[in-house]
Amino acid sequence: MASLHDPLPLPCGQTLPNRIVKAALSEGLGDSGAGPDERLHRLYTRWGAGGFGLIVTGNVMIDRTQLGEPGNVVIEDERHLDELTRWAKVAKDGGTPVWMQLNHPGRQANPLATRNRPVAPSAVAPGIPGLPVPRALTESEITDLIARFATAARVAEAAGFDGVQIHGAHGYLVSQFLSPLANRRADDWGGDARRRGRFVLEVARAIRAAVRPGFALGIKLNSADFQRGGFTEEESRAVVEALAAEGLDLIEISGGSYKSPAMMGRARGTSASTRAREAYFLEYAETARRAAGPVPLAVTGGFRSRSAMSAAVGSGACDAVGLGRPAAVFPSAAADLLSGRTAALHPPAISLGLPDRWTRGRMRTVDGALDLQWHTDQLHRLGAGSAPDLARSPWWTALSMVRRNGIDAFRPRRRSSEPGHDRLPRYSFPRNGFGRALGRSKFERGAGRGGCASRRGEGDVIRREALARKFRIERNVGRYVANPAFRVLDRLGVRSTLATELETVGRKSGRPRRVPVSALFDDEGAWLICQHGMRSGWGNNVRANPRVRLRRGDRWYDGTAELRPDDDVVARARAFAPHPLLAPLTAAGFAALQTTPVSVRVTFTGNDSAAT
Ligand SMILES: Cc1cc2nc3c(=O)[nH]c(=O)nc-3n(C[C@H](O)[C@H](O)[C@H](O)COP(=O)(O)O)c2cc1C
Repeated sequence: MASLHDPLPLPCGQTLPNRIVKAALSEGLGDSGAGPDERLHRLYTRWGAGGFGLIVTGNVMIDRTQLGEPGNVVIEDERHLDELTRWAKVAKDGGTPVWMQLNHPGRQANPLATRNRPVAPSAVAPGIPGLPVPRALTESEITDLIARFATAARVAEAAGFDGVQIHGAHGYLVSQFLSPLANRRADDWGGDARRRGRFVLEVARAIRAAVRPGFALGIKLNSADFQRGGFTEEESRAVVEALAAEGLDLIEISGGSYKSPAMMGRARGTSASTRAREAYFLEYAETARRAAGPVPLAVTGGFRSRSAMSAAVGSGACDAVGLGRPAAVFPSAAADLLSGRTAALHPPAISLGLPDRWTRGRMRTVDGALDLQWHTDQLHRLGAGSAPDLARSPWWTALSMVRRNGIDAFRPRRRSSEPGHDRLPRYSFPRNGFGRALGRSKFERGAGRGGCASRRGEGDVIRREALARKFRIERNVGRYVANPAFRVLDRLGVRSTLATELETVGRKSGRPRRVPVSALFDDEGAWLICQHGMRSGWGNNVRANPRVRLRRGDRWYDGTAELRPDDDVVARARAFAPHPLLAPLTAAGFAALQTTPVSVRVTFTGNDSAAT
């Protein structure tokens, strides 16, 4: 019977000194050039002395234009080789092998860290607040991404890392390719399970071809998506079998995505046996054993006590156990457990502490985000040379999230282009919606739990009515308060791009119609935000006749306007801020006034005239 102390030989010839793995934890400690700096070195010095059998780094990105979190380290070439070498060295000083996790966020690209439009197998939004509809990758872009994984692995090897782990879990690009919900391609990269599995196999092959044989290659893979119609356990086992045939060294099992954060123990309906065994994915691991053949399996998620970890490894359900959150607050977790100093690790359960019935819907996502951020804050403390702070209140973390991300941090669910949803981005009830979500009507609650269709229909009717009510109030505020106020300011000579004027052609009257708008000017034109989308009079005017005039200071400029429903309207709103520090404020201002916002692009056509 295997024990936690036993070394674990891997197919590539490396041997892990014991069975406790420090799982990947995104540190967000890259410098402004996306290279590792002193803070990462300090953090990994702590983990390096922590007695682990294997240390997996937080996800390192392969494309600097697409990041998962602010502060990601990125490898595209050897420009940071020296700092990477130092990182590997300090982490390995205690004798533990160190693998670098490689990732591409795909449609989960973080809008705070990514200016470019996210890319994904298909143009299907992730259904996570604030994340836009991605652009579908072209075939040549797919091949380029595969090569990027291989390049990053080669650089990691040159820097002295002992291996790499492909991030194939949690709803990022690799798992998007595997999921039928995210991958709707009709070419050789999508369709049936075999074609959806092609991307990850090609990534594994490309990495293998780029590194020497003794360099380890692992993957973190989802047992399932934990979403209806998503990647299933059966499909996951088939991927395990196919990857095992590619000569992998370790398959780490996790599950879920940021929409359905099962990896953080926030899936619905946890069974009694799962609760007893602590780990969230152990039952699946048992069933994947045969598919994995000679490739060792690790399971991450939920382990807290030495007895549960020993039982999992002793029973043969898995060969190693991964620790995520406990490692963030107990950097010497493995040494503490193996020496018998500690019987169980208990990082605080992070939640806003709202009653259970409230946390079923969007609060689950909010609590998941808070859990991640609270632990990231601990990594930052360690990186700064401080001790973890177990007493840190989750409310402090919540406040700092709002400070950093503005109201977007807690933006209610945004409808996606998944089946049954509009293509236009819609925000239901900014601000108020949060309150409403906490006290939803019985019809909405029924719909949320998969209640019968008629109840869902009634819930929709209630939502639509509330939206219409909000629109009517805001239209009146615009007509009778905001617009006259802007006109008075204008007459007084107080002019700002946040309050200028747009002239459209009235679709019924054919006459010029002027409305106050905010505009973000550039050399060729300007961006506007149509706060009420298709409900707005001027939005509909533009759709009927794109000819417009826009005032900039004392001059009117002719242009053509186009509604751009695919643009990331949240990021656009933030860009209106005169200073980055004011971005959350600007975004919050827009959020407070909008119901169904759509970005609008005005392209100047060359004529201008003095304002009248
Ligand atoms: C702050 C934080 C950052 C994380 N970053 C990553 C990551 O970069 N890559 C990854 O595969 N998982 C990441 N995870 C998930 C963990 O590796 C792990 O799967 C999850 O925390 C469940 O394990 P636990 O119950 O031991 O915490 C992260 C988790 C946290 C809390």
